[in-house]
Amino acid sequence: MEKIVIEGGYKLEGQLPISGAKNAALPLMCAGLLTSGGLTLHNLPHLADIKTLASLLTELGGSLSYQDEGWDIGSGQTVTIAVDSITSTTAPYDMVRKMRASILVLGPLLAREGEAIVSLPGGCAIGNRPIDLHLKAFEAIGATIELKDGYVRAAGKLIGGTVHFPIVSVGATENILMAACLADGTTHIENAAKEPEIGDLANCLVAMGAQISGIGTSHLTVTGVPELHAAEYTVMPDRIEAGSYAIAAAMTGGELELLGGNLPAVMTGTLDILKEAGLVFTETDRGLLARLGSPKIKGINAVTQPFPGFPTDMQAQLMAMMTLCDGASVITETIFENRFMHVPELCRMGADITVNGSTATVRGIGRLLGAPVMATDLRASMSLVLAGLTADGITEVNRIYHLDRGYERLVQKLESCGAKISRQKADLI
Ligand code: UD1
Repeated sequence: MEKIVIEGGYKLEGQLPISGAKNAALPLMCAGLLTSGGLTLHNLPHLADIKTLASLLTELGGSLSYQDEGWDIGSGQTVTIAVDSITSTTAPYDMVRKMRASILVLGPLLAREGEAIVSLPGGCAIGNRPIDLHLKAFEAIGATIELKDGYVRAAGKLIGGTVHFPIVSVGATENILMAACLADGTTHIENAAKEPEIGDLANCLVAMGAQISGIGTSHLTVTGVPELHAAEYTVMPDRIEAGSYAIAAAMTGGELELLGGNLPAVMTGTLDILKEAGLVFTETDRGLLARLGSPKIKGINAVTQPFPGFPTDMQAQLMAMMTLCDGASVITETIFENRFMHVPELCRMGADITVNGSTATVRGIGRLLGAPVMATDLRASMSLVLAGLTADGITEVNRIYHLDRGYERLVQKLESCGAKISRQKADLI
């Protein structure tokens, strides 16, 4: 077990490459199950979650060949996913429990084989996270659903239909979108999630021969085709990673050029709030320059919302920044019921935060103080790293396997921009 040790107080300056988006890469890899033609993905990040999904795809009959685009901190990997035939339609508990996104194999397996048996993912640190919306959507397009022994079995011929989501779900939209591509009829997905990662998935499916209209809107129409074919696709940059490093630049009083294409378009909700907080962004040839443009971080009122609103995946990092704001900030979490677990840890570093239900009031303080901390999920872990970068003294972040799930080469990237940060053997488990 390792920990990250940070000596706070160093400005971050320079260029920081943004990796391929984890939340785009995972559904794109699952889309590889939809064809026997082979799907080649470029700019795949080196992350634990990608390896976990690769093992699951192999278990289902896929063979994955990698081509590394070098080991610079800016380069992703290329993988070709070849699934000549599906050899198993079961995603076992041992794999699904490690990563909730494994549920995204359900749609492709069902569409291609007429059957999928996937372990129920169970709860997770940030909340209950049921999959009822996924299952109702499959039923609406012709599948029958059975729950048994902790597994869900979806089976039947998909004929299309209308799916109306009562609340916006990223994963359920992706799952039904993939399944609908091979259905016998047309599927209308209403109140679809509009996250850019869904646009990435839809564009890749179109490159594979799918017929999808309404991409980027909340109403997707999918006309099923008998089969999909080989394609190549490049994973979009990670807007959450980019937002996290913009905050790192502002909190340390530095300036970072975030390298990646099209960042402003995919970061709208994040940029709006960060600008209110006093950050200034300048578009460059290669990305986006981020720095704090005011003498102090300004207090804000932020509410997490589906895209194009402020993303829940940025909430913990925003809160770390607001611990240093001028006055007070109010942050309301509307997507997940238990996503304030970073609060007690930030308070151990001197932050002044009061939680009342789904709302946190953060009163700005002069300085954070380094401390040993530990977090229970990916974005919460990043908020502690951000706090450590600016805190007085040494911060030790434990349980960094969360960070390895979603931040590619975090230590190398921050070190290359001037942070005093290292991975060391941990004593705490
Ligand atoms: C995805 C992202 C995650 C992000 C989240 C919200 C990936 C791999 N993960 O997760 O990083 O935080 O979107 O932007 O892309 N819900 C139900 N029933 C369901 C499905 C969801 O009630 O069947 C609820 C959830 O509990 C949550 C809300 O809907 O309250 C949104 O969840 P959803 O958008 O589905 O999140 P994920 O796809 O799991």
